[in-house]
Amino acid sequence: MEKYEIKGGCHLRGEVEISGAKNAAVAIIPAALLVDGVCRIENLPEISDTEALLHILASLGAKVKMIDPSTVEVDCRHVHWENADYDRMRKIRASYYFIGSMLGRFGKAQTTMPGGCNFGVRPIDQHVKGMTALGAPVDVRNGYIFSEAQTEDGRLHGAEIYLDKVSVGATINVIIAACMAEGKTVIENCAREPHVVDLANFLNSMGADIRGAGTDTVKINGVKSLHGGSYAIIPDQIEAATYMIAAAATQGEVLVKNVIPKHLDCISAKLREMSVTVEEYPDSVLVRAREQLTKTNVKTQPYPGFPTDAQAPISVALSQSRGVSIITESVYDGNRYKHMNELRKMGATITVNGSTAVLEGPYELTGATVQACDLRAGAAMVIAGLCAKGTTYVEDIHYIERGYQDFVGKLRALGADIAIVDFPDDVEEAELSVV
Ligand code: EPU
Repeated sequence: MEKYEIKGGCHLRGEVEISGAKNAAVAIIPAALLVDGVCRIENLPEISDTEALLHILASLGAKVKMIDPSTVEVDCRHVHWENADYDRMRKIRASYYFIGSMLGRFGKAQTTMPGGCNFGVRPIDQHVKGMTALGAPVDVRNGYIFSEAQTEDGRLHGAEIYLDKVSVGATINVIIAACMAEGKTVIENCAREPHVVDLANFLNSMGADIRGAGTDTVKINGVKSLHGGSYAIIPDQIEAATYMIAAAATQGEVLVKNVIPKHLDCISAKLREMSVTVEEYPDSVLVRAREQLTKTNVKTQPYPGFPTDAQAPISVALSQSRGVSIITESVYDGNRYKHMNELRKMGATITVNGSTAVLEGPYELTGATVQACDLRAGAAMVIAGLCAKGTTYVEDIHYIERGYQDFVGKLRALGADIAIVDFPDDVEEAELSVV
């Protein structure tokens, strides 16, 4: 089993280049199924989730050609809706975007129930509500999702849809489905995340007519077809946030390059409250932590609020801050605090009560063997390992590789002592003597 071995106590210093946004890429790849032509996607992050989605696209008949590690050309002129790579689909969350793109392209869809990080119940009722309103009721049987347009012409038809919950996934999925529907769709109470805007920009560059992405009302005039083109994905907001927070937690100084500073306002504001200096440049941010970090409170919210995906990383920085900090997780109901248990193994005495976590830092963290419970919790444990005295082993690193391109290489370039080590899976069992 591969693990990260981290020898703690360094201050991260130097420059790091941010890759393309995972949560935009994982929407854009399934959306490419709508394009009756060749689309070139640039600034694609090299992570296991995008690789899996490209395989799924290929299983639907797309010709997928890697031009270089971050550029792919996808030709969806001769695609079909059946026989998708269901094994890969059930392992990742974003496979649910194929419901929207298959319905848009073929008028029918079959996918698996989505997989992905496990932090409690992650319903898809708002996706179902959207597809149903567009004329395609959704049916779940034997772990598969089936949907087919029940209209006379076999196409989706535009509708007015109010989302009961602000959902990135549902907003994106309904936009994908609606962009080739007959007539106009209006989606209210939309998510406003940068990756929602990026997905809409990608589709518009291929001939779609989507307006208002980035606000809470998105209007889509259905078009007959989408044409090929070229599109570069935006930089990853959460990857950038992770390095900014890691720089702060390790009392380092890091220039985080290839970012859109506006997308990071929520992170920069919190770090400044924690006595960290953040300087913004046109496409980079410099994070410098020279003083003892100080407490603050964090409440996760949909964009432009503080992102739930940065909650685990900032927990670690708050564990190194003086005073009582309170974190409130308000995007996910249940279980996005698993990293707190792992931090306890390293010496932090954190109180969790429902959606609230209370930290009274600074804690002196000590190296331990800990789990990457999910993607962001895993990144958080790596930051904790960098702050801790002694050696930390982070297990289940496949979660981290789902979403961070070359995490180890980028951290090493900043001075971290981190390596991938391979431990044999089968530990010989000690023999028991039976009396
Ligand atoms: N929700 C519903 N019904 C739905 C959909 C969502 O109740 O039909 C609830 C969820 O349970 C949650 C809230 O709405 O409480 C927000 O969920 P959302 O739909 O926004 O999340 P998602 O689309 O499943 C995406 C990202 C997540 C990120 C969230 C929130 C992708 C593939 N995933 O998930 O990213 O946490 O938005 O910003 O885009 C990650 O990158 O580590 C990650 C988990």
